[in-house]
Amino acid sequence: MTYTQGMLKEGALKGKTIVVTGGGTGLGRSMGTYFSELGANLVITSRKLDVLTETAREISEKTGSPVLPLACDVREYDQVEQVIKDTKAQFGKIDILLNNAAGNFISPTERLSHRAFDTVVDIVLKGSYNFTLAVGKDWIEEKHPGNILSIVTTYAWTGSGYVVPSACAKAGVLSMTRSLAVEWAKYGIRANAIAPGPFPTKGAWDRLLPGDLQKKFDPANKVPVGRVGDHQELANLAAYLVSDFSAYVNGEVITIDGGEWLKGAGEMNQLDQVPEELWDAMEMSRKGGSKLKMMFAYFNGMRKLKFRK
Ligand code: HXC
Ligand code: NAP
Repeated sequence: MTYTQGMLKEGALKGKTIVVTGGGTGLGRSMGTYFSELGANLVITSRKLDVLTETAREISEKTGSPVLPLACDVREYDQVEQVIKDTKAQFGKIDILLNNAAGNFISPTERLSHRAFDTVVDIVLKGSYNFTLAVGKDWIEEKHPGNILSIVTTYAWTGSGYVVPSACAKAGVLSMTRSLAVEWAKYGIRANAIAPGPFPTKGAWDRLLPGDLQKKFDPANKVPVGRVGDHQELANLAAYLVSDFSAYVNGEVITIDGGEWLKGAGEMNQLDQVPEELWDAMEMSRKGGSKLKMMFAYFNGMRKLKFRK
């Protein structure tokens, strides 16, 4: 068994209706596909109906479960309400909301127009609260239990230069998650979040590492486990959190990044660049011993250190 395989038992989401925003591409598509494999009724939404329709067809063909594609700009509350109406008309109810849609790009902040800042914040934060509010109101009115999962990032709590609108918005989504986990628990509604590290998708890679930046800044280099994420391992975590197996998990944000953000945070973590020979030389100098061996280890170590990326 490995992380590239599905984790939950067959039928674990049978009978559940799940709305995935931004479900036509990337991670939303991968998580939705796995929910569908587990028997869920899937609704995927985003702005591009052609993309959604094709994705819905492919997922449904693969899994045999129904997938409903619905065009909806998350920034428009009336379109969000329409998704709820159409979903209930098709499947009778909504059980789970996955806030996954996002917009992002890199830029020095002072080069952004206020409209550019608005665009990202509106998709990420307004989009997430639009859906959360509309679906939440519906659940409360119908006395129907609910489950909200939101995809944030690790810089929701560290912040990050060059993606400041996204960092502000994701921090807001995390705060909403923790707030509503408490406020709406009395209605049987849970709220959790996942903070993924780098998972290759066209949407993220093209916008965050355009052109030659992908060669210069290989995201795997920043990850202690030495690789980027596999979509199935994120889908496994998401499926657990939207399922009833996680009924006692509420208000949590789970990081899935191979230790990436902690590596950036730990004061001395860059010392993993130090070659073994240099550690040998330091140990020899501390413990005493052959000066020649120590010098040899030192120069070898320094040479390797110089050529490390
Ligand atoms: C600076 C930019 C820009 C850029 C757009 N703008 N791209 N400014 N740098 N690269 C500015 C425009 O000039 C305009 O401002 C304003 O933003 C709105 O631009 P539009 O193109 O009209 O917006 P829209 O069509 O709504 O498209 C939204 C978008 C686009 C965010 C700009 O990239 C998009 O559709 N993204 C969706 C998918 C996505 O971003 N996926 C990546 C998620 S990855 P002016 O002033 O000119 O009017 C992610 C990973 C996080 O979140 C963590 C990774 C580890
Ligand atoms: P992606 O494929 O670009 O997904 C973003 C989705 O959001 C697209 O399907 C897009 O579809 C949709 N979207 C954008 N604006 C929208 C709007 N106004 N209304 C409705 N839908 C909209 O990128 P991804 O990498 O899979 O990202 C998915 C989620 O993971 C995001 O929340 C992202 O922040 C998060 N994340 C990703 C990574 C990573 O390494 N990939 C890391 C951390 C967090 P349309 O263009 O059709 O609208």
